[in-house]
Amino acid sequence: MMEPDSLAIQTKDLTKRFGAFTAVDKVNFEVRRGEVFGLLGPNGAGKTTLVRMLTTLIPPSGGQAFVAGFDVARYPRQVRENIGVIPQALTSDLDLTGWENVDIYGEFFGLSRRERRERGHRLLHLVGLTERANDLVATYSGGMRRRLEIARGLIHSPDVLFLDEPTIGLDPQSRRAVHDLLETLRKESEITISLTTHYMDEAESLCDRIAIVDGGKIIAMDTPVGLKSMVPGADRIDLVVEKNPDAIAEMLRPMPYLREVNRDGGNRLQLSSNDGAHAIPKILEAIDAAGDRVTSITVQKLSLEDVFIHYTGRTLRDEPAKKVSMFVGAGMPQQR
Ligand SMILES: Nc1ncnc2c1ncn2[C@@H]1O[C@H](COP(=O)(O)OP(=O)(O)OP(=O)(O)O)[C@@H](O)[C@H]1O
Ligand SMILES: [Mg+2]
Repeated sequence: MMEPDSLAIQTKDLTKRFGAFTAVDKVNFEVRRGEVFGLLGPNGAGKTTLVRMLTTLIPPSGGQAFVAGFDVARYPRQVRENIGVIPQALTSDLDLTGWENVDIYGEFFGLSRRERRERGHRLLHLVGLTERANDLVATYSGGMRRRLEIARGLIHSPDVLFLDEPTIGLDPQSRRAVHDLLETLRKESEITISLTTHYMDEAESLCDRIAIVDGGKIIAMDTPVGLKSMVPGADRIDLVVEKNPDAIAEMLRPMPYLREVNRDGGNRLQLSSNDGAHAIPKILEAIDAAGDRVTSITVQKLSLEDVFIHYTGRTLRDEPAKKVSMFVGAGMPQQR
């Protein structure tokens, strides 16, 4: 019944069918204790269904899942005692204060009055709601409610925290506050976090590993960096040379780190590389040796959105790729 202690979540051919339709199709993955694991996928991919099986809300139709060491089908009570669940919809009680919301949950999990008080106040402090603890939740913003629900989900010291779209519908400032909170949890506690999200930046900055889910299957799973490096020519390099772009293009074409070299009007060249970070010094060196000069160079990192398109052929949501520019001479890398 028990799985190795180092694993917080393990699935074996986990499957969920609704009638003739298979929503989750023989999914296999493992999450180590302390890891932040992201499930990323388009609408209807099966993310919520997967999470609902892992949190014992619905039984699997096939395969197995172990959470915090317990088989979800055979030991649902033990699983529930060891997990915190933050569903997508805001579920805190508007007619109660923040503190009361947390306290009731603690009582439900059988904590003593003293444990509830100690832990509850510490968690409300962690989520930045100490000042508002005695106000009715009806007076909270969406971001405050979400943070309260995270505190509430942690009251019984779960080993594994499941969050389904934790920042959907929040304004940028509240999203930021929730991100900071999850970042703090990740750094300062041993907790394992499983989160589903549509937001690429969220998946990329918070998750140690990401599973891309589509059509009920995991189609790719790795670290954010690993996922990107699986897509060929991931880094786009734009550069401008001072004198002779044609000759420079010819010279760069056979270089090992480069996949494509194109002229792009004027003195501009457009390159693609599997490894922009290593290509750039070599490019600069080669151009220097050829007696020309680079006046500007820009690397556009492939975004997770591009990775997503590569694997699924579809976009997830419109989020522009981040550009990191480096103007030669000015010396300072800049975000733009
Ligand atoms: N109770 C149910 N009965 C029948 N079909 C269901 C049921 N629950 C989910 N499905 C179907 O299973 C598929 C996966 O749904 P699920 O909610 O898991 O997707 P999701 O990845 O969470 O999507 P979203 O990003 O929209 O939240 C969908 O086609 C959905 O219609
Ligand atoms: Mg969902």
